[in-house]
Amino acid sequence: MKCGVLIPAAGQGKRMGLGFNKQFFHLNGKPILIHTLERFYHKPWIDEIILVVNPSEKELVQQLLREYHISVDAIVDGGAERQESIDHGLAFLHSEWVMVHDGARPFLKEQHIKNLIDKLQIFDAVVLGVPIKDTVKVIDESGIIINTPDRKSLWAIQTPQAFRLSILKEAYKKAKADLFIGTDDASLVERLGVKVHVLEGDYQNIKITTPEDLLIAKAISDQWSEEN
Ligand code: CTP
Ligand code: MG
Repeated sequence: MKCGVLIPAAGQGKRMGLGFNKQFFHLNGKPILIHTLERFYHKPWIDEIILVVNPSEKELVQQLLREYHISVDAIVDGGAERQESIDHGLAFLHSEWVMVHDGARPFLKEQHIKNLIDKLQIFDAVVLGVPIKDTVKVIDESGIIINTPDRKSLWAIQTPQAFRLSILKEAYKKAKADLFIGTDDASLVERLGVKVHVLEGDYQNIKITTPEDLLIAKAISDQWSEEN
């Protein structure tokens, strides 16, 4: 069974406010994006890696790949939205299965990648997630609570999100036709009526998004480097 990985890394990191793409920030001496790529590079269960980058950062990324001895199968120009970046990357995949994984999620454990691949033997769509810890409220525009969904059924969904490639392509085609923009890939696939299964991952697999995430990321990174 062939499985490729598609890594969107073409964002600007606006919420992080560093003034540059957060994925070039160093953790434990290496850019975040390199940590992420190392989760997949040279692993027997991954057949191809497609990396999507901002065209203005392509040279820098190529330089980093050389420096850290990583090679990918294609470096694709990203778009203005994450969804557009993924859409560009999909055209370069050849495997039967694809995992989409954010460039800004460097703490993905190997076991979880393997667990997802195992599940692809039985399901067409499977994503990682964790039960949420906070109570979530639905509020109106004036900040007043409308209701409190039962926490038991609420999960925070992460990446990787893994799909049969033909299904993900169809989902992207339909989203484009309907002018639908989702915040993850699963939401596009759900619109096809395909069942998306959730597999429990872990709380360390954070997406580095805002400045406080960097504090957490440094702590996780220190723990990982002690273990290896
Ligand atoms: N991404 C992308 N193309 C875009 C926007 C985002 O490939 N046009 C990628 C990011 O590089 C990141 C992942 O999608 O790895 C998740 O996006 P997010 O955390 O929102 O990153 P940014 O868009 O860079 O951050 P922000 O929204 O704060 O600007
Ligand atoms: Mg973004």
